[in-house]
Amino acid sequence: MTSMFRNLATVGALTLLAAPAAAQTEVKIGYALAPDSHYGVAAQKLEEVVLAETGDQFAFRHFPSSGLGGEREVIEGLQIGTVEATIVSSGTLANFVSDTGVFDIPFLFRDLTHARTVLDGPIGQEILAKFDDVGLHALAWGEQGFRHITNNRNAIEHPQDVQGLKIRTMENPVHLAAFEAMGAAPTPMAWPEVVSSLQQGVIDGQENPLSVIVSVKLNEVQKYLTLSGHVYSPAMLLVSKPFWEGLDDDQKAAFEKAATEAVSAMRAYVDNVETSGVETLKERGMEVGTLSAEEKAEFQAAIQSAYEGYYETYGKELVDAIVATE
Ligand code: PAF
Repeated sequence: MTSMFRNLATVGALTLLAAPAAAQTEVKIGYALAPDSHYGVAAQKLEEVVLAETGDQFAFRHFPSSGLGGEREVIEGLQIGTVEATIVSSGTLANFVSDTGVFDIPFLFRDLTHARTVLDGPIGQEILAKFDDVGLHALAWGEQGFRHITNNRNAIEHPQDVQGLKIRTMENPVHLAAFEAMGAAPTPMAWPEVVSSLQQGVIDGQENPLSVIVSVKLNEVQKYLTLSGHVYSPAMLLVSKPFWEGLDDDQKAAFEKAATEAVSAMRAYVDNVETSGVETLKERGMEVGTLSAEEKAEFQAAIQSAYEGYYETYGKELVDAIVATE
């Protein structure tokens, strides 16, 4: 090789070495709970599978424990494109796609299997598709479990035990109507304010699934836990529509695969905490009571008036179709 060719070869090799790595696309993912919660587990699985499928094309930045604000704020961030992804409860989803509220109706689902079948089936998937009309793209339904009541005032067995109870609800009209019908004094509140409001006695109680009560250690600020299972609590994996539209088909397929695996991880977490969580909370000092089938029926009867409103909003046919799903 002449010295000229040797120099050119060296320059070529150096150019290759110095070539900047293809720019990674940042994925900021925000969620309300800690990294070791069902949301954290799902967010980590999402990242793991996306990276495995795409190599180094994406760089994830996690914002757990409401690091980007309340769920509504985060979803609004997705709409304007300042946040790429989130895992949220159904708390404020009905403000974006009103039909999602149907899944917040108390005593709608028999058990986790029933809920998963409906959400993964045509009714759930049709509602997911509607998020594309509002600047969002819904990847999948996730899950939190069945919600139970915690409070500092008294043990709860009958609807009269919640009379006047200052209970925080999500900013969700379906939940609000149910607690009003029960005779409680519900206060809709964004999640980041809840623990301090319980600590300061601004509210007596709140309601959330075991996945949340255990991972947030609500036993530190709440004495009574009533296993009421009054409503199923879905979650959702959402990405920003501008972000989604910037992905190529392979990248979209990677996110879809990752979302399916993230949901499996989240549901496995919920399955586990639904069986182990009660013991954990008793060990941590909570007084735990379980509503019997008869007591649950009393609560169901107490919210019959709210059901009239649910039928009007969502259609009795849809509610009946969900109940009838095997
Ligand atoms: O109660 C809520 O607002 C939600 O269940 C929570 C805890 C933020 C998880 O999404």
